[in-house]
Amino acid sequence: MSTFLVTGGAGFIGSHLCDALAAAGHDVRALDDLSTGRFENLPQGATLIEGSVADPVLLSRALEGVAGCFHLAAIASVQRGVSEWFLTHQTNVGGTVALFAAIAARAEPIPVVYASSAAVYGEPASLPLSEDTAKQPLSAYGADKYASELHAFVATHVHGIPTVGLRFFNVYGPRQDPCSPYSGVVAIFADRLRNRQPITIFGDGNQTRDFVFVADAVQALMAAMALCPPGAPVFNICTGQAVSVLDLANHLGAIIGTSPDLHFEPARPGEIRHSTGDPTKGQRALSLAKPFSIRVGLARLLAGRLTE
Ligand code: NAD
Ligand code: UD1
Repeated sequence: MSTFLVTGGAGFIGSHLCDALAAAGHDVRALDDLSTGRFENLPQGATLIEGSVADPVLLSRALEGVAGCFHLAAIASVQRGVSEWFLTHQTNVGGTVALFAAIAARAEPIPVVYASSAAVYGEPASLPLSEDTAKQPLSAYGADKYASELHAFVATHVHGIPTVGLRFFNVYGPRQDPCSPYSGVVAIFADRLRNRQPITIFGDGNQTRDFVFVADAVQALMAAMALCPPGAPVFNICTGQAVSVLDLANHLGAIIGTSPDLHFEPARPGEIRHSTGDPTKGQRALSLAKPFSIRVGLARLLAGRLTE
């Protein structure tokens, strides 16, 4: 049994990871400012250190005695990066550098598995996106995630800190907050359709995303920490399947048993149109199981469970 630190552990992906760590018998310590996360998301027995991931004093306390760190704390919204550029940068890059600097200051380095994003690629010239595709982020959020990858490379090569980056595509599942305008599209649509409310489509609805069930994200995080391949690698975590926003609304409507009432608004600034990843490299390096299909994942989301 070891102790793991999970920054952003009270959030959507982080709390499912905390559950998996606790189920595997580990001690779980979460560092979270509860800006979008919730204390109630944490498993029983987990310790919460409340505050900012960009606070060096808090970080050095949070890192005491831990065997490894999962770094998920971020302002995880492309749209907030547009409207709150500097503030999001302070967390999304400042927090990452503060964490690596705090680990570098210790006698012994510990491994860090951190969340990057498909947003690093920007608008692709061709699909699917492989890890070698050019990185040309179109949003401040994507630029900050790419900067985090560059700092991880430095952490590994200059400071000897083992790092693995996971470029999550669009992750969905139970506990994703549906209530903010910055929430992910799956959580918003599922909540509104369940309550027989209209949904808003930004643009024509033919934009596509690669939607990944949160259980697959957790499996990848756990495997990355266990295997920790050398050389600061970065892997796509995705399904390889493109689903349009309109198809997403229709799939959800079909499972819930309602016909979606669609309202169209102009496309949002700073967004990419298409995003589909090639999952092969990560699946091989981390020995990952086949990802959940969108139909199975959406059914589990609506049932509020990760398993059948
Ligand atoms: P989330 O908002 O549910 O989780 C982020 C957590 O970080 C929250 O608990 C929040 O309170 C915390 N946090 C924010 N700023 C903080 C700060 N300054 N100090 C400490 N804690 C802070 O989002 P999520 O979807 O669970 O995202 C987790 C990670 O995965 C993020 O790094 C995000 O960028 C990345 N990611 C998410 C997706 C997705 O589709 N959900 C896709 C790609 C990457
Ligand atoms: C999402 C994640 C981001 C991650 C990225 C990786 C969230 C909030 N953001 O960004 O952290 O790094 O995937 O690929 O989870 N849409 C509508 N109606 C709505 C809401 C959204 O039509 O009510 C559309 C958007 O305009 C966009 C698509 O759905 O075209 C997806 O939007 P969103 O869920 O916000 O995610 P991304 O911007 O792709």
